[in-house]
Amino acid sequence: MAQYALITGAGKGLGKAFAIELSKRKINTILVSKPNHGLQHFCTILKEKYEVDCVSYETDLLIYENLISLANWANQHFDVFILINNVGTGGTNKMTDVDIEYINKIIKLNIVTTSVLTHQLLPNLLKQPAGYILNIASLAAYLPIGFKTVYPASKSFIYSFSRGLNQELKGTNTSVSVVTPGPINTNDGVVKRTNKGFFGKFMILEPEVVAEICIQKLFEKKVEIIVNPMIWLLIKIFPKWVKTPIMSRIAKRELS
Ligand SMILES: NC(=O)c1ccc[n+]([C@@H]2O[C@H](COP(=O)([O-])OP(=O)(O)OC[C@H]3O[C@@H](n4cnc5c(N)ncnc54)[C@H](OP(=O)(O)O)[C@@H]3O)[C@@H](O)[C@H]2O)c1
Repeated sequence: MAQYALITGAGKGLGKAFAIELSKRKINTILVSKPNHGLQHFCTILKEKYEVDCVSYETDLLIYENLISLANWANQHFDVFILINNVGTGGTNKMTDVDIEYINKIIKLNIVTTSVLTHQLLPNLLKQPAGYILNIASLAAYLPIGFKTVYPASKSFIYSFSRGLNQELKGTNTSVSVVTPGPINTNDGVVKRTNKGFFGKFMILEPEVVAEICIQKLFEKKVEIIVNPMIWLLIKIFPKWVKTPIMSRIAKRELS
């Protein structure tokens, strides 16, 4: 039976770049994204251009029942050998200015979706000749940042979850990789934020470049994928008492 890669948040940005990169490699895809944003049309283009199969599944992953339905549907109908937990959201805000939904959305989309979908699809991946899970964290996983606060914490979860599960799956067919990118040129929000500072402009990467590196390293079973090595090194070198206040000041400037 044909095998598939399932990608969440595949309608635009990095998820879309993953879909193109996998299609170029003749890998069939299941693309998941919010309804009515042109996912089906994108699938048709991939099918015709790369002569692969592509299935679209439109759903709001913020609703827990939808997440479970997606997993059940994928397990029933497909042999999934690659799972890319890409969907995610963030924000820069004062904790005193946000409502509960802001916090809930980040935790649900970043933490719950990644961990629950992995849990639900893992038996499927374990049945395949080889299985690969790619989780999308961020450089923010390595450092707490004020005014972003919830997002870096959620990405620390993804980082720790991925590395822990990779250990747990040692000796099986399935490996877990986690990527920790800096800014990626995916949407207007990121571009606006990075344009405000020298470092942002210097660090920003195109989604196609990130996707290509990630898929190559995924097949090499690389546990931690680093796409911004210079910044990664700086983050590793500086202690938290230096980098957290600096990054928080930069984040605070995004508020204005
Ligand atoms: N961009 C960066 O600078 C950056 C840096 C580090 C890490 N990351 C991480 O990389 C990942 C992708 O980021 P991105 O910038 O490519 O994101 P993006 O441009 O905002 O795209 C997000 C994708 O997720 C889908 N989505 C959003 N909410 C959803 C929901 N409730 N249910 C189903 N699908 C939903 C969107 O669907 P629609 O198309 O229908 O809106 C879209 O296809 C995220 O995990 C992010 O945290 C990004």
